[in-house]
Amino acid sequence: MNDLVRYERRDGIALITIDNPPVNAIAHAVRQGVMAALDRAAADGAAHAVVIACAGRTFIAGADISEFDKPRGKPDLPEVVSRIEGMDKLVVAAIHGTALGGGLETALGCHYRCALASARVGLPEVLLGLLPGASGTQRLPRLVGVEAALDMMISGKPISAAEAREKGIIDEIIEGDLVDGALAYARRLVGARAPIRRIRDLAVDASRLPKDFFADYRQRIARQTRGYFAPERIVQCVEIATRLPLAEGHRLERELFEQCKASTQSVALRHLFFAEREVAKIPDIPKDTPQRPIARVGIVGAGTMGGGIAMCFANAGLPVTVLEVDAAALERGLGTVRRNYEISASRGRLSEAEVRQRMGLIEGALEDGALADADLVIEAVFEDLGLKEQVFARLDAVCRPGAVLATNTSTLDLDRIARATRRPADVIGLHFFSPANVMKLLEIVRGAQTSPEVIATAMGVAKIIGKIGVLVGNCWGFVGNRMFGQMIRENQMMQLEGVPPERIDRVAEEWGMAMGPNGVFDLAGIDIDVKVRRGRPDKPDDPTWCRVSDLLFEHGRLGQKTGSGFYRYEEGSRTPIPDPLVHDLIRAEAKRLGVARREIDDAEIIERMFYALINEGALILEAGHALRPGDIDVIWVNGYGFPRYRGGPMRHADAVGLGEVLAGVERYRGRYGDRYWRPAPLLERLAREGGTFTGWQR
Ligand code: 3HC
Ligand code: NAI
Repeated sequence: MNDLVRYERRDGIALITIDNPPVNAIAHAVRQGVMAALDRAAADGAAHAVVIACAGRTFIAGADISEFDKPRGKPDLPEVVSRIEGMDKLVVAAIHGTALGGGLETALGCHYRCALASARVGLPEVLLGLLPGASGTQRLPRLVGVEAALDMMISGKPISAAEAREKGIIDEIIEGDLVDGALAYARRLVGARAPIRRIRDLAVDASRLPKDFFADYRQRIARQTRGYFAPERIVQCVEIATRLPLAEGHRLERELFEQCKASTQSVALRHLFFAEREVAKIPDIPKDTPQRPIARVGIVGAGTMGGGIAMCFANAGLPVTVLEVDAAALERGLGTVRRNYEISASRGRLSEAEVRQRMGLIEGALEDGALADADLVIEAVFEDLGLKEQVFARLDAVCRPGAVLATNTSTLDLDRIARATRRPADVIGLHFFSPANVMKLLEIVRGAQTSPEVIATAMGVAKIIGKIGVLVGNCWGFVGNRMFGQMIRENQMMQLEGVPPERIDRVAEEWGMAMGPNGVFDLAGIDIDVKVRRGRPDKPDDPTWCRVSDLLFEHGRLGQKTGSGFYRYEEGSRTPIPDPLVHDLIRAEAKRLGVARREIDDAEIIERMFYALINEGALILEAGHALRPGDIDVIWVNGYGFPRYRGGPMRHADAVGLGEVLAGVERYRGRYGDRYWRPAPLLERLAREGGTFTGWQR
């Protein structure tokens, strides 16, 4: 039919095979090929039924996302789906791997669906800011009922073949070879004169829906979908499906699909889809760079981070040895790990046997020698350069040659740490985020001498433990924390100017941040910020700089752990309560420092925090500490609770317009001077040229 779609006949059954690696996205040429193959099957007098299958690792994984920015080529996917459904010969979909989005919609156009037991099916469009646009919102409720269809489309999560079979999406599970099994199944159906079943002929059974079902459903998903554009439109489509015939419902679905596709949210989420895959590509480290095998892991320090990191590896089935200074610290650390696992078990996320198995993989130690046969050692002791240098000198003495030596430092100079060893090429930063067993991000810090093999190994380690590894350069705070520092500076300056911390948090959260910066500080511990900033080599000579943190620290308000910080907390509660005492302290301090109080509106709160962040991102990019703007976006979305639907700070800057961002930076420069608000040259240049960060190439 063409290079991407093959037609053949096997014992009376037409077999259409799509072969568009890597994931059989149903691109324009594939759609043309399938249409031609269907014509041929229709005209082939010796073909009594049709099987649609895919070569390679998966059934169709959806529409080709890279085509969304181009004009839609004919035939479009809805035409293909309706052509399949309209066939007079029985059509069977043969599914392996994942049938996702347009892939599942194609299968729903087929009259029967069979699959390998390992297959999964789903409608993940919502994760791209879209809704299923090839009649999925109309067909799935007809097939599985309103609520199950909504749940699949709102979560975007694929389900297993077994579950799909139970729901009626899959009719037959095939054992052994899929194509042979599917052909045999088609023959059986023909032999039994099975009817041609068309979903378009089914009505949605809305009679059993409780009154107010849709209002209740909206309420139920409100929290999870806060700020997102597509979910409400998915619900609207399903409501339509309960009232209108499929063709009419599909017309409305199409309109809403186009609205979603054109939304800044979908552009942002598609950008993240590709950015999250691109982070794995490092220009000077080819894909075939050898990786060192990692079978045993050592961790130094069983505190907040060391314990969480140990869990990451135990969860992946790797044995871990955790080294501490004394038995009490070790017991405390391992006790916390056990408690965390038990909490998961009590919520039904782990079985008791799994808790035992994972704890069984974690062993404590008090002697350096216990790390002698580790393939990877991750240091997570206090954030103190001298201490880390000592630890690395000791690791150098005991670890076997070829072991990867990593530090979880969040700010310190990796090259200084590496120089404490005689093997700086084996030293790398693995910067986890708290809680380490939960947060997806892993900043992988490359030192001046880190070897390509060690970098490739670290990227592989991220995969093993299910993290998104992003390679960054060695500078104070690396990428995430260096940018966060700018945001914090403005946040605290605005507090001196009269904005209460809780208002800043509220505005940031309404804007989409998972948590406001002051709540984050109370959670992480204000003392951590204070100590880290004290060690900073480039501290500005400015008494107002992050003064509020220092002030709270001086008053023993360290955050949740002391029951007070930017907020106060009732005994045993984590609910932040605004505290007039804090307002008074800040007001007095502003007076002492001579900071004028002024009215600041919500727009300024957002601009000052996020323009400061973006400007720093541009400096980081130019300096090469991040490889691509998308890498920065991936860091912020996966490590700092930046709203996914804004695509990350650099993509958000593009959406605002770089001219506008630059004008804002210049405005604040006019008011506060050059120290913090000098525009990054890259921002200036791109704004002048009408460019974007995401379109920028080094
Ligand atoms: N379109 C274009 N490219 C795609 C793609 C798609 N739908 N799905 C995956 N790719 C590309 C990836 O970018 C990657 O490219 P690279 O190798 O150059 O980086 C390559 O295929 C392999 O992808 P992964 O690295 O993600 O491979 P995995 O094996 O880890 O995962 C997958 C495979 C589960 C299929 C995963 O790729 C995935 O979830 N894909 C997206 C599925 C999706 O969202 N489908 C819905 C699309 S929207 C739609 O169908 C609209 C319709 O309703 C009209
Ligand atoms: P922590 O204070 O909770 O734990 C540090 C642990 O190291 C303590 O249990 C201590 O007994 C142990 N330790 C100290 N010296 C040791 C030595 N010589 N040998 C063995 N163990 C020793 O500290 P936390 O928060 O876990 O931080 C550890 C590192 O992780 C720091 O570098 C920090 O900057 C970094 N980090 C912290 C994050 C956080 O949110 N807490 C986030 C990301 C990185």
